[in-house]
Amino acid sequence: MVIGVPKEIMLGENRVALVPEVVSKLIKKGFEIYIEESAGIKAGFPDEKYQLAGAKIIKNVEELYNNVDIVLKVQRPIEHPNFNRHELELIGGGKLLISFFYSLHYPEVARKAAELGIDVISMDAIPRTTIAQRMDALSSQATIAGYKSVILAANYLHKIFPLMMTAAGTISPAKVVIMGAGVAGLSALGTAKRLGAVVEVSDVRPQVKEEVLSLGGKFIEVPTDDSMQDENGYAKEQSEEFLRKQKELIFKHVTEADIVITTALIPGKRAPILVTEEMVKNMKPGSVILDMSVEFGGNCELSEKGKIVKKYDVTIIGEPNLPSLVPYHASEMYARNLFNLIDYASKDGKFLHDLTDEIIGGATIVKSGEIVHERTKLLIKN
Ligand code: NAI
Repeated sequence: MVIGVPKEIMLGENRVALVPEVVSKLIKKGFEIYIEESAGIKAGFPDEKYQLAGAKIIKNVEELYNNVDIVLKVQRPIEHPNFNRHELELIGGGKLLISFFYSLHYPEVARKAAELGIDVISMDAIPRTTIAQRMDALSSQATIAGYKSVILAANYLHKIFPLMMTAAGTISPAKVVIMGAGVAGLSALGTAKRLGAVVEVSDVRPQVKEEVLSLGGKFIEVPTDDSMQDENGYAKEQSEEFLRKQKELIFKHVTEADIVITTALIPGKRAPILVTEEMVKNMKPGSVILDMSVEFGGNCELSEKGKIVKKYDVTIIGEPNLPSLVPYHASEMYARNLFNLIDYASKDGKFLHDLTDEIIGGATIVKSGEIVHERTKLLIKN
């Protein structure tokens, strides 16, 4: 089968779906690889490296789409700015698209793929099970994002992170508060600790307390129980009453922080508001908020998607694509996730799209003209 990788077209996207190392591995497995010209350049992978790895470079994206069986992308398909057509229309029927797709947020795109006869496997729908871990691109990208969130926020802070005892006196360490101890939050915790900050972390799932403590963080206790977590290990949507109590409890922590990083998310829902305007008003001048959930509504009442704003003397960063700011390693990890998925589901250079398989079936949104992903189907019906 032929696999094609186009240049990403989402504004600000620097990643690429395959890196040369993974191209060689796929060719050894019996696939042919076509890469659109300059697809990897922004991530640090020039065309020559892909050619050396055995890929064919294609100048024109339409030619690429016409000659491949499988399309690998990072971002969900959108309107193509150069063609005034949707990327799905350019890809065309009879192909398999594997990329982030976010069908719970963009169900109408799933419907479009079904109408066009494009099969879709979504990298954000890979089940978070032990066996699927090596394909879990949400986790690999969230790990990178958690790291970058701290580096970016630190850059805007007018203080240093570590405790310093010098001849010029002692400097006390920065205080970082992290809301949400999932993959991104724990990665942010590790990074902030390595830089020398004192870190406090809050989460609604009591199960994560041990992990926070083991990484050197302090856990902000919010009265919760095991019922806050669903069978897949994700947080369940919380009641208004719970969120009100939580805000009261975290007020002191947030207003004393130098940096607040918010990563709270319930899959498929609007991100819960945790940092209110009132909290921002009461934060120290010069402090920084980085809202990682800004793509899905934001955890901070004042954050703006794609913008860095200053309100009440607090810098609020609403960067929706942190992995793209570290595109070399983010692409490397994403490409390895893709390889592990394709290798798992293929035989002799042929991708076997087996819906009865727990991972492949779970991550398939569209197959043979039908939406097969149950939660997406429900959204379409309602
Ligand atoms: P995750 O599902 O592993 O973690 C989310 C955490 O938030 C969970 O531990 C959950 O229990 C917690 N949570 C839910 N409601 C909460 C509340 N009211 N208070 C405190 N904690 C709460 O998700 P992951 O992979 O760590 O991603 C976190 C967020 O970062 C998501 O919104 C994701 O979209 C975003 N993200 C943003 C990126 C960017 O570039 N801005 C890149 C990668 C992820």
